[in-house]
Amino acid sequence: MKTVMVDMRDKINEADMQLAGEVLKKGGLVAFPTETVYGLGADALDEQASAKIYGAKGRPSDNPLIVHIADWDAVYQIAEEIPEAAKKLADRFWPGPLTMVLKKSDAVPFTTTGGLSTVAVRMPDHAIARELIRAGGGYIAAPSANTSGRPSPTKAQHVAEDMNGVIDMIIDGGAVSIGLESTIVDLTEEVPTILRPGYITQEMLEAVVGHVEMDRGLTAEDASVRPKAPGMKYRHYAPKAELIIVEGEMEQVRTRINELVKAAQCRGQKTGIIAADETLQGYQADYVTTIGSRQDELTIAQHLYDILRTFDSMDIDVIYSESFDTPHMGQAIMNRLIKAAGHQIIEV
Ligand code: TXA
Ligand code: MG
Repeated sequence: MKTVMVDMRDKINEADMQLAGEVLKKGGLVAFPTETVYGLGADALDEQASAKIYGAKGRPSDNPLIVHIADWDAVYQIAEEIPEAAKKLADRFWPGPLTMVLKKSDAVPFTTTGGLSTVAVRMPDHAIARELIRAGGGYIAAPSANTSGRPSPTKAQHVAEDMNGVIDMIIDGGAVSIGLESTIVDLTEEVPTILRPGYITQEMLEAVVGHVEMDRGLTAEDASVRPKAPGMKYRHYAPKAELIIVEGEMEQVRTRINELVKAAQCRGQKTGIIAADETLQGYQADYVTTIGSRQDELTIAQHLYDILRTFDSMDIDVIYSESFDTPHMGQAIMNRLIKAAGHQIIEV
């Protein structure tokens, strides 16, 4: 299959947008930008179309997709028993980087929900995404547009790396603004529960709906406590290289990372380091990069997946990373980084 790349970085091209909408209505796959990461879209209400997504990504069929909508009323078509909390959260955070899990209606096929009786719904805050959803019939299932297990795409080029020749179309809307996937909150239980941390934090949700819980499966040391979002149990976001996080007092972290690099180089390994602007000086490795300033956590979030992909392209064997537990997005950043590291953390 030839994958068509269309450029909408400067402005939306209406003819191409109509074409993309037609592709979706005919059951095809179109990758598109959102404010979080690029999505791989298919008609969410078309069983065969959404099934194609799993094939293109190499995604396990029990890992459900998020349904993207552009207008609030669309929620009534795909969800049932919409609680008051969902209306309040939509009022405050939609369009935006928040996904809500609700009871699904019969209109949503089980291929889209990975066999679950609930459906995850999100209204993205991105002009291209919203126009595409409308052009494609109003309900677009879209996981992140990466091959399963690779870092999520934050640029059209990342999508092309993984999906060229496999999907119908890629809409290039430039680099995304947030860079980490949406916060997922489950509203089907008594107390709203965060299944995946993101830009919208627990405190922000609690300010609107009162007490919100964090899924125990996200942080449990005990591996028998499974995360409630099926996708959170897989080793996601993983670079090809081994990734190890080193945590602790900054000076000691730097010393330890330099020691680890030396030892790895002695073993003949190609090494990389992820540092911050403030700490970049004083590191030695085959490739040392900054993820941004610790004062600017959005930049850290935006750069994370891009950096992991860069290391892949350089055939680095082992990466040592500082920890980036920033005040607001720190939980989401570290959730992704720790997963990418397969939970390998050294405390100094
Ligand atoms: O920011 C985002 O959410 C991006 C953009 C494209 O919108 N999408 C995204 O989709 O991250 P994906 O498929 O990469 O991640 C969806 C996550 C998975 O962990 C999945 O298991 C979970 O959402 N999920 C989807 N439906 C669910 C449901 N009904 N119940 C629990 N978890 C669900
Ligand atoms: Mg994903």
